[in-house]
Amino acid sequence: MLAKLKYWFDEKKGAFSMWSAFLRYGTSSPKRNNSFDNLKLFLKHNISGINTVFLEASSICQLKCPVCPTGKGLTKNEAVGWGYLKFNNFKKFVDQNPNVKNIELSHWGEIFLNPELKEIIKYAYDKKINISASIGVNLNSVREDLIEDLVKYKFKHLLVSIDGASNDTYKIYRIGGDFDRVIKLNHTSSYSPINDKRLVRKFSEKGIVSREEFKQRYKHNYLNPCAQLWVSPFINWDGKLLGCCINRKVDFGNVFENGLKECLKSEKYVYAKNMVLGKVKPRGDMPCYNCRYYKNPERQNN
Ligand SMILES: C[S@@+](CC[C@H](N)C(=O)[O-])C[C@H]1O[C@@H](n2cnc3c(N)ncnc32)[C@H](O)[C@@H]1O
Ligand code: SF4
Repeated sequence: MLAKLKYWFDEKKGAFSMWSAFLRYGTSSPKRNNSFDNLKLFLKHNISGINTVFLEASSICQLKCPVCPTGKGLTKNEAVGWGYLKFNNFKKFVDQNPNVKNIELSHWGEIFLNPELKEIIKYAYDKKINISASIGVNLNSVREDLIEDLVKYKFKHLLVSIDGASNDTYKIYRIGGDFDRVIKLNHTSSYSPINDKRLVRKFSEKGIVSREEFKQRYKHNYLNPCAQLWVSPFINWDGKLLGCCINRKVDFGNVFENGLKECLKSEKYVYAKNMVLGKVKPRGDMPCYNCRYYKNPERQNN
């Protein structure tokens, strides 16, 4: 398996293919049972430069989903804050980081509340960058002309979050949302409105719907290594490097002000990575310090 991993690195020379290789290595070998081992193996190989980042288009949201930190108003007063990615900052970031070829725009908020989204999507298209919203969109506030732009500018992937199959059930969780509007935008006679990947997998029975099922099929535990700090760092809408999708409270410098490379090289960021690898002692000012994955690595193998 290691030989295969190396072969992929030599052949492809790109972080995206490395990530695929890493995921594959982490999840398909029946002999592996430790995600930290996988991470260490992955890191032994040269990484030519990060080519995938999360860059949040909007941390603002108009709904009040009851278990969501954004819906509950928690992120407003944390490092994440409440705002949207400005086109000028996006352009600057893209121009300064030509290695970055994949940008995920969604995470804490609703990307369609960003009034400069069209310019962002168009610029990414012009620069041949894959843009996605794979964490999710609630799709309650999208302008129809922007939907055409998603197609025109080859938006790579959009995951629409719909909890409920009628307005009555939908509004229990998606408080403030309008099921009929979302479905109207999302549904054509040739395309099912159910595009939550977990539901699709459950009904098609092609995928894995639980860790138990994974274990039965592959004879080892599901592995979910914490690798985002290396592979696809998370950048807040205002440029704060937050590192991973769980951290809402501590930043590692500002990418728009100091540059991505500088922030990734900072003492604090390097320490966080070494902490995740178990090379240095836990430090209280690190976001990982209170993270459930760091505190209880066993969870990653359960
Ligand atoms: C935070 S939302 C942001 C993107 C968009 N507004 C949406 O609803 O898809 C991203 C995803 O996280 C899910 N989510 C919200 N709160 C969560 C929680 N406490 N635990 C796990 N997932 C959560 C949402 O259902 C949604 O699928
Ligand atoms: S729509 Fe998304 S971001 Fe908004 S409250 Fe619901 S889950 Fe959170």
